[in-house]
Amino acid sequence: MQPRPDRLDVYYGSELAGAVHDSAPLAFEYASTWLDGAQRMSLAAIPLQPGRQATPEVQAFFENLLPEGELRDYLAAQRKASTLFSLLLEVAGDTAGAFVLVAPGQTPEPPRYEATSWEAIAAVLAKRSASTIDIHEQGARISLAGAQDKTSLAIFDDGIPRLPKGTSPSTHILKPSIRRLAKVWHSAANESIVMRAAALADLPTAEVFYEPRTEACVVRRFDRQLRPDGTLARLVQYDLCQLAGTVSDRKYEKEGGPGLATCAELIRRYSAQPAVDLRHLVRWVFFNLYVGNNDSHAKNLSIYSVPGQGVTLTPFYDLMCTRLYPGLSPEFAFAIGGEVRPGEMGADHLALMARQLGMQPRFLSQQARDMADRMPTAVDQAAREIAPELTPSARTLAERLERFVLSTTKKLAARLTA
Ligand SMILES: Nc1ncnc2c1ncn2[C@@H]1O[C@H](COP(=O)(O)OP(=O)(O)OP(=O)(O)O)[C@@H](O)[C@H]1O
Ligand SMILES: [Mg+2]
Repeated sequence: MQPRPDRLDVYYGSELAGAVHDSAPLAFEYASTWLDGAQRMSLAAIPLQPGRQATPEVQAFFENLLPEGELRDYLAAQRKASTLFSLLLEVAGDTAGAFVLVAPGQTPEPPRYEATSWEAIAAVLAKRSASTIDIHEQGARISLAGAQDKTSLAIFDDGIPRLPKGTSPSTHILKPSIRRLAKVWHSAANESIVMRAAALADLPTAEVFYEPRTEACVVRRFDRQLRPDGTLARLVQYDLCQLAGTVSDRKYEKEGGPGLATCAELIRRYSAQPAVDLRHLVRWVFFNLYVGNNDSHAKNLSIYSVPGQGVTLTPFYDLMCTRLYPGLSPEFAFAIGGEVRPGEMGADHLALMARQLGMQPRFLSQQARDMADRMPTAVDQAAREIAPELTPSARTLAERLERFVLSTTKKLAARLTA
């Protein structure tokens, strides 16, 4: 048996950025070549300086690359990996954003993919106890954050789903319907409709399609970019918990995670187009309120760096109507002017939110009204587009979703803009 490494090298393309050390707490050290090099940039909020760092910013950067909750428990049991370092060792090959973690002495390999089919993926998912990661070979080093079961795939021009091998970059995220929560039904149809509605309402949103054989929402990754030679570049991307130095089990504002004012502050600090991105932020908040998405926390916001465009907010992702499901939280992830209950929010809360974000109340009210005006057409078109792919029970979900959004938007917009 190979001795277990006590260090993982962190690569950006073919350049060594630094190393993570198996200590408690986890430590990170930038490579001296990185600190002196032309590509020099900090990993999220980890200051660019020599020597080992074991700060909350280090924990937050690496911990936020990993799955959460039951999915993390599943991996911990399957791979016998209970510490943060062990989990990174097991799965942090292809992660969100640009960095790849490999055992010392190894370098990221040239990309390789193995063709599969939607039917083969569906057959794995049909096993009740399986996690979506089981569509990959045992030991696959793929890591996506978040609490929902999901995995990554590569889909190129021919539309065939492919399994990335080793640390090869993926292009899509497969999110099948949530199975572990009894009262949550057809979440993939829900997410596909809501994501598409967001795009139709003119929010920059990750592209999705609903895949009927796997009953999954398939999301195109915006942190992967096809180069002219056909290979994939990984773009630098950080979620706002990574930037705030917050670990994922404190992602909600009520647990001490970033609130809206902190998100706005991070956008002002990092974005090359803060005015545009702040407008998108508030429109995203109103969209989430109207669509009944109570799970819009700071980890569902990221920034990225697109070559030639500088740092901006990424397109939005992870949008669905959570309020359709009894048992999920009735509270909005962020306080709006101190209020978390959507049914209690009104113009006074909006005015306070404006002060907290350093914006004009009239501007917020205009954005709330404009987003409300777009909702009926956007949701209706999104639901109609997906309907032919849906089973009769998923279609029932879609009809309820549309009714919910129409009535919530009408009531809430009237109160917010009174
Ligand atoms: N289209 C995308 N392109 C690139 N990265 C993405 C994309 N969608 C999601 N991600 C990354 O993957 C992570 C997990 O995705 P997502 O938020 O959809 O999962 P989730 O399990 O539903 O999350 P949650 O725990 O918030 O419910 C995100 O936090 C983000 O870092
Ligand atoms: Mg999420």
